Amino acid sequence: MRELKIDTTLFVFETESELPTDVIELMDAAKIARLNAHAPYSNFAVGAALLLDNNQVITGSNQENASYPSGLCAERTAIYYAGAKYPEAKILKIAIIAGSLKHKTLKPIPPCGACRQAIAEYEVKQSTPIEIYFMGVSGQVIKSNSLENLLPLIFDKSQL
Ligand code: THU
Repeated sequence: MRELKIDTTLFVFETESELPTDVIELMDAAKIARLNAHAPYSNFAVGAALLLDNNQVITGSNQENASYPSGLCAERTAIYYAGAKYPEAKILKIAIIAGSLKHKTLKPIPPCGACRQAIAEYEVKQSTPIEIYFMGVSGQVIKSNSLENLLPLIFDKSQL
């Protein structure tokens, strides 16, 4: 056997103010979306905003359910709406802001595995990378130039 090393590269912005202007606006849209999170069970609120190549901004927040697995993350709420409403549009960027409603979350919160898989589906569908930015309620913002950097060895339709 031999070792297989996988490299990944992410970029760290110390504060939101270092972000490009369009990403600051996108993160602001994610912040507003986060206010509509329905998170009475986890008390963890997440907002996501997508910038499409038709200039539309689509937002989502996590929506929980008394039957826990029926809830959905903010990222997938937004992505599936974008796919349903603008099936021809490409997703250029995603901004995600997440944090506890009980304490101040200062570390960047990455999208969960299921959301990474959902983002992967659209990156493959559109054949162009999606920039992903994620943060806690304030502080550092992490950027990934593509979903591939967050989820190496993706499972996609080519394997079916
Ligand atoms: N959550 C998201 O909305 N996105 C993620 O990527 C991670 C988790 C939500 C799901 C659930 O409502 C709460 O955060 C706690 O897991």
